Amino acid sequence: MNPIENTPETDTGNTVAFRRPRARDGKRIWEIARDSRVLDVNSPYAYVLWSQDFSETSIVAEIDGDVVGFVTGYRRPTAPDTLMVWQVAVDDAQRGKKIARRMLCELFEHCAPAGVVAINTTISPDNEASQRLFAGAARALGLRFTREPFFSADLFLDSHQPEDLYLLTPAAAAE
Ligand SMILES: CC(C)(COP(=O)(O)OP(=O)(O)OC[C@H]1O[C@@H](n2cnc3c(N)ncnc32)[C@H](O)[C@@H]1OP(=O)(O)O)[C@@H](O)C(=O)NCCC(=O)NCCS
Repeated sequence: MNPIENTPETDTGNTVAFRRPRARDGKRIWEIARDSRVLDVNSPYAYVLWSQDFSETSIVAEIDGDVVGFVTGYRRPTAPDTLMVWQVAVDDAQRGKKIARRMLCELFEHCAPAGVVAINTTISPDNEASQRLFAGAARALGLRFTREPFFSADLFLDSHQPEDLYLLTPAAAAE
């Protein structure tokens, strides 16, 4: 059973529900990624596959039955207690309503498998929205927020910026 199925919350007049993705959500997730004009857009097949096989570490937000945002993630193979967040996007019309932050919090607190205690993500230096999103999620979840170099620009074929690794870790780990 999906533990976060049907967990509506009211926000600015709309009812937002959070749930794990299913294969049939892949098309809509691909559209949101494409329309973001910021994310690297993966193939439609990749999002269908991800929604099927990485459902436990991913989440979608719905308003009136329409998927308006998603987070894709996986448990890091070398650190299974860590949720690596791969992509986050919210439909342009629904931004600024804390939907992205709430997806991250719902995913971490209610959806991710037991034993997941930390979040990692990579963010390019020019993506201020993403940096603020994860800083806010860290505050809301009571996690420490740090950054370190990760992928340098020369690793990419295109004119991709470098990607820093952002670590949201249990506060006690910092002591
Ligand atoms: C980044 C994105 C997911 C944020 O979605 P959202 O639902 O509007 O974000 P929230 O309302 O939860 O806001 C979270 C934080 O981000 C900040 N933020 C959101 N959009 C911002 C922007 N364009 N510029 C600066 N800060 C921004 C908010 O102010 C908030 O910070 P605060 O808690 O300090 O006030 C959305 O803008 C998006 O889909 N962007 C394109 C894809 C992308 O860049 N994804 C992230 C990289 S994987």
